[in-house]
Amino acid sequence: MQLFRMRLILALILGVTLVSVGSTYFDVLAHKHTMRQDLERRTALLGASLQPEIEAAVNGSRADVIAATVARLHPFDEALGLAVYSPDGRLLASAGPQNLFNLLPPVTVKRATRRGESVAYFGHDGVRQWLEEAIPLHAGTNLNGVMVILQDASFIRAEDLAVWQRSFWRIAAFVVLIVGVTLLMVRWFLTRPMTRFAERLRRLRTGRPTVVSGGDNSAELSFLTPLAREVETLAESLMEARAAAQTEARLRDAGEHLWTAERLAVHVRERFGSSRIFVLSNREPYMHVRKGRETVCEVPPSGLVTAIEPVLCACDGVWVAHGSGSDDRSAVDEFDRLRVPPDDPRYSLRRVWLSSEEESGYYDGFANEGLWPLCHIAHTRPIFRATDWACYQRVNEKFANAVLHEMEGSANPVVLIQDYHFALAPRIVKDARPDARVCIFWHIPWPNPEAFGICPWQAELLEGLLGADLIGFHIPLHRNNFLSTVDRVLEARTDREHMTARRGGHLSIVKPYPISVVFDGAIRHGYGSGADGFDPPAEFAHKLLLEEHGVRCDYLALGVDRLDYTKGIVERLLALESLLEKHPWYREKLTLVQIAAPSRTRIPSYADLSRRVEETVNRVNARFQTARWKPVVLIERQSSHQEVNRWYRAVDLCLVTSLHDGMNLVAKEYLAARDDEDGVLVLSKFTGAAVELRDALLVNPYDVDAVAEAIHQGLEMPRAERRIRMQRMRRQVMEYNVYRWAASILTDLRDLRMENEELVTAGRAAGPAMVRKLA
Ligand code: G6P
Repeated sequence: MQLFRMRLILALILGVTLVSVGSTYFDVLAHKHTMRQDLERRTALLGASLQPEIEAAVNGSRADVIAATVARLHPFDEALGLAVYSPDGRLLASAGPQNLFNLLPPVTVKRATRRGESVAYFGHDGVRQWLEEAIPLHAGTNLNGVMVILQDASFIRAEDLAVWQRSFWRIAAFVVLIVGVTLLMVRWFLTRPMTRFAERLRRLRTGRPTVVSGGDNSAELSFLTPLAREVETLAESLMEARAAAQTEARLRDAGEHLWTAERLAVHVRERFGSSRIFVLSNREPYMHVRKGRETVCEVPPSGLVTAIEPVLCACDGVWVAHGSGSDDRSAVDEFDRLRVPPDDPRYSLRRVWLSSEEESGYYDGFANEGLWPLCHIAHTRPIFRATDWACYQRVNEKFANAVLHEMEGSANPVVLIQDYHFALAPRIVKDARPDARVCIFWHIPWPNPEAFGICPWQAELLEGLLGADLIGFHIPLHRNNFLSTVDRVLEARTDREHMTARRGGHLSIVKPYPISVVFDGAIRHGYGSGADGFDPPAEFAHKLLLEEHGVRCDYLALGVDRLDYTKGIVERLLALESLLEKHPWYREKLTLVQIAAPSRTRIPSYADLSRRVEETVNRVNARFQTARWKPVVLIERQSSHQEVNRWYRAVDLCLVTSLHDGMNLVAKEYLAARDDEDGVLVLSKFTGAAVELRDALLVNPYDVDAVAEAIHQGLEMPRAERRIRMQRMRRQVMEYNVYRWAASILTDLRDLRMENEELVTAGRAAGPAMVRKLA
């Protein structure tokens, strides 16, 4: 850097000096030319005024008269000398510096004689400079002599010198100014951003990403953004590869096998060969959103993207989803497709557009006001409208047709349909493409047959679902409820031993696959110790609370949820209130940070919940808060994964108190984040996660006093016990991570078809109807 700076300075000095000297040289030349012209003009005028008298004297031919006239006229004006020559160049008379006239070459006189007109010549010796102006003298038409006027021209050289002197200081000032400004610019716009950029890369390389809050240098680094993106992607890939290698090595050492994104990709390539994979979900993996004048590509916070992306990348698959971003249309081609991930495009995203009526009937209405409360026993009454149902059917067909369109030309495709938004799609796809292996994963609970029975279209929904070859739920209870519902509603044969349902000759396997999160064991969103310039997570959180919310506390509890009535947020707040009542010791000591992401806000029950949460927070805070403390800090907005991860790592206890939940990934994310093997998880027993995480403090969220006691127990728990529980739960999440979830589903889907390969091949040749009969 030092050498670079020296070279830059030298180059600048040289460059600026050369340019300035060059420009001064031409200035001087022009000035000199003007001064000479001016002198010549003045001398010619003088000559013209003297000429008649001199001519008269010369015409008289008397040497004494000539000498007297010359002597008389000489001091006239500023002329240096005056002389008269005969036409053959002999000096007849002179006045002024005699030695100079002796020095003068006769050339000027001769030229003037020859040409018969005035001739000017600039001459000089070591000291002086002069102008010789030779003017022919006439007698009538005859030339009878030459008059020479000598003018002093030394002032021209003096002027030149003065100009050079003045320019020297100007050039020096220029050099200093330009070098200074350039150095400052280099420092501001290059050196500083480059140093920060290098620091960012160093942090990436060493696994400590840039601190988000404070010191945001994004504007300063904006011109480096394209380069930064490329290099960061590269650095992240390297980091991920290193983390995967470390984890593999660690697990090999422990005699275990961890599923990683890379292993999942290899698995998919080996198992599915040339088969392409098609995913259908309502939420898309990338959204283009208008923010001010810019369009930003965002990844909606979703565990699904993490699991599905490596699968699609491995086989260049297609993800079909609702284009719900405000600027989604601007990012697609004429077939409504785009390549993603944006930084490293490996698969296609096909966006499907919905009108506001479709969105309202299918998404807000049937899916979220009907099926969602139907499947979650949270005592919010489902609403079933015939118009919503009609819309749901139409939209299912629309999405299924989009998938079928994408599948054209792909042999043996695999279709992974996601969630309750698309209960009818499996049947539509399977009917049109019997050679496809179709799976639907139901991400929410399946209630008992009595509860499900209130849906007027339960038979149609089941019929649609049973078009799939594989139906996945999170836990055995949901699978059992589903099979019981099929038994009760349809004429179908269910087999509890093999976990299948046969309807109209088609066999569906029904199995639990507990979804999970990424667990890489590395401090992915790490916030190192104070030694490397960062606050440790807990200190950071306490500082943030104090700065942003004016809250000081000793203990931190955390809730992270979508603002959804199934999450038991109000019940959690009531539990906190009960704790502060029964154990006043926690007053001014414990604060609950509740991160609540607004969700489905057009639906009245969600708007109502938001109001109730805010009211309860305000009431509890008003009841207990003091000058520097309050029991609840509500952060009601979308928060980034990094932000949430920071809170996970900082708190003493995480509260997951869902009234009913298919799985609940917050519980697992919290465990994955706690690489310090500390922290307590209070978990509702009505979540799917409770089946696996037996070392959490399991609670009934409706029993607010019991939840209060669990919080108390968690905060009082000795470090050794916290560690043992945390280690066991982390091991569970590590072994059963999200990649394993995807791999299990894909393996079963592949094996299922392989059993019937012959029949399917025969059926494919014979056409769809025969396949159904044979299967
Ligand atoms: C649940 C569902 C998902 C859904 C998510 C967010 O987890 O199972 O399918 O994507 O909630 O809800 P949203 O309506 O915003 O997609």
